[in-house]
Amino acid sequence: METVKSVETETQLNLDPIIESKIKTLLNQMTLAEKIGQLSQHNGEGFEAVAAINRRVKQGQLGSVLNQADPEIINEWQRIAVEESRLGIPLLIARDVIHGFKTVMPIPLGQAASWNPDIVERGAQIAAHESSSVGINWTFAPMVDISRDPRWGRIAESLGEDPYLCGELGAAMVRGFQGDNLSNPNSIAACVKHFCGYGASEAGRDYSSTNIPEYELHNVYLRPFKRCIDEGAASLMASFSDIDGIPATANDYLLTEILREHWKFDGLTVSDWNAVQELAVHGIAENDKDCATLAANAGIDMEMSGTSYEDYLSGLVKENLLSINQIDAMVSNVLRLKFRLGLFDNPFVDDKNAQLFGSDAALKVAQEAAQQSLVLLKNQNNLLPLSSTKKGKIAVMGPLADAPYEQLGTWIFDGDASISQSILTAMKLFQTDNLKIDFNCGLEYSRSKDTKHFNDAIKLAKNSDVAVLCLGEESILSGEAHSRACIDLPGAQIDLIKQIKATGTPIVGVILAGRSLTLTNIVDDLDAIIYAWHPGTMGGPAIAETLFGQKSPSGKLPVTLPKMVGQLPLYYSQKNTGRPPTDESVVLIDEIQQFAEQTSLGMTAFHLDAGYKPLFPFGFGLTYGEFDYSNLQLSAAQLSENSSITAKVTLANSGSHTATETVQLYIRDKVGTITRPIKELVGFQRVTLAPGEKTSVSFEITTNNLKFYTRRRQWEAEPGEFQIWIGGSSDATLSDTFSLLA
Ligand code: NOJ
Repeated sequence: METVKSVETETQLNLDPIIESKIKTLLNQMTLAEKIGQLSQHNGEGFEAVAAINRRVKQGQLGSVLNQADPEIINEWQRIAVEESRLGIPLLIARDVIHGFKTVMPIPLGQAASWNPDIVERGAQIAAHESSSVGINWTFAPMVDISRDPRWGRIAESLGEDPYLCGELGAAMVRGFQGDNLSNPNSIAACVKHFCGYGASEAGRDYSSTNIPEYELHNVYLRPFKRCIDEGAASLMASFSDIDGIPATANDYLLTEILREHWKFDGLTVSDWNAVQELAVHGIAENDKDCATLAANAGIDMEMSGTSYEDYLSGLVKENLLSINQIDAMVSNVLRLKFRLGLFDNPFVDDKNAQLFGSDAALKVAQEAAQQSLVLLKNQNNLLPLSSTKKGKIAVMGPLADAPYEQLGTWIFDGDASISQSILTAMKLFQTDNLKIDFNCGLEYSRSKDTKHFNDAIKLAKNSDVAVLCLGEESILSGEAHSRACIDLPGAQIDLIKQIKATGTPIVGVILAGRSLTLTNIVDDLDAIIYAWHPGTMGGPAIAETLFGQKSPSGKLPVTLPKMVGQLPLYYSQKNTGRPPTDESVVLIDEIQQFAEQTSLGMTAFHLDAGYKPLFPFGFGLTYGEFDYSNLQLSAAQLSENSSITAKVTLANSGSHTATETVQLYIRDKVGTITRPIKELVGFQRVTLAPGEKTSVSFEITTNNLKFYTRRRQWEAEPGEFQIWIGGSSDATLSDTFSLLA
């Protein structure tokens, strides 16, 4: 890969001289073994691990532990570290607190559908409060891997396909976890991961190779990382995967040149689980010693779970394969985080704080987050909202209607399913003498093919005014190492829908899933569709209040919903290509005449069996209101460095419900030194309007919105013409142009 000259705006190191001098004092006292100990993170799960950690901590030879959430054990480790080890250095206690601790927020992909940095920040804050109360001081989140392939199970943990949205929401998580000051007892250190490109795993198969060309790396994959680091993310994790043949864990271009030299990152870098030793499995090292050499020299400060650092780093120093200055720099990064977290002042927790779990305040945020994550994809004949006052019968059905655990989603090591409120439970609260709510699961779990409940389900649907069918995927079908090649509804769910459809009762489909599923074969059978992702602890109440119209849905898709797997990867910000498809150029397979001539089918970039459009575009989501966009105006037709243009649009709610719309601003750089996306999101705002209300929404556009990594390998804006769109999805049509002066 060629050398990068400048990546976005370069920042300067901003170190606290008092902390730096304390680090120096400690380094002067530390033996090599104690230094290397700081660079190791051990798994703290299980009785034997706890005892082994006790011993190592006493010797002053362990920097961090992960996977322990018992405050008594954690306090005891910290006591040994502080009171019994020679230099009294406290421990970093890490845990995957990804979208909540005991109180679970929607999966990150669901949170991303809120397009609301404020609710994402508040969710992370709750997670930090709850987890810090047991002694955890470091989480492995946010994951800001751009994800454009829903086969990849980890798309659940991502913030979607777009670098701008992902960066803004990742930064919000960083603020939520870390608070105003890392040393607050309720703050935990964020870890932005996985650096870099993990989301581009080939064919969406987890851990697979990635091949990301240089411009794509800078303009798409690196951007959210830079955003989170600028926000102050305290640490960063390298990806498991290789990128263009170089595993991220041994990638000095990423970990040193970009991260340290250009971005001036002064935080801690950690490998992923056993990823240092897996360098040998990748086939770029012969043995563990080579693994340690490659990772340490590339820029990995701390090894997670493996032992190659503790086994080989001291030998490497003796053999001059690694300098003591390098070791000191790595240890400084560990100690700096410990000082920033205030652990040297007080590493202990008072376990009475555990009463914090599932507090009313936490549940309120979880419900708000879940409600804002709901995306209304379809609402034929205004089937929704349902009336809670009219006489009637509602059938609540489907394998995910009463699934308190499954609705929590992936990565819930500590999530408490006993406080999770299901859709059925929440719907039942609306039952009155007039309104009857009955339940039949149809299928016992999402993958089930056992149709034994079908007859009863059909009977119930026939006797009801509407069927609310809760469908989707169980938690286990998404997340790490849980990729799928077919992303249709699993089990006999499609069959269940068809049978309920045949009763003639209108169906509301509520889809709970860890990814965007392909819904093509059922979209016409469902009269209304709410995409709920895995909505977390308060998913039930959030869905019930939305179905009954107490709140309008306001979520927008953070990922493109494909028609079929063969379209993947599919994302809105594609390049134009030399042969862009249009509605006119597309000839679909059933329209082709027999013996048609080779060049008669349009000759543009589309699939004969899928066309070129998704099922639902990025940014799409309906509300119970009716939003109209008009009167787009630019304050000037020309932009120069240091000036700005205001783009203004009139937004009106002509519907009969108060609703929140996310207004989106897209830009296209018409001519660049490299090919540019046909549309790129550069701004968004959530706006709430009462029926009949109208307002003007404006965005400031500066050269910062136009910058990209150009053919000169600079982060800069190129003069020329730009097109902008403002609207309610990436399909926005209201448009104007302006030019950037040289
Ligand atoms: C592996 C995952 O890739 C990473 O995201 C996670 O934080 C670590 N394991 C620790 O559990």
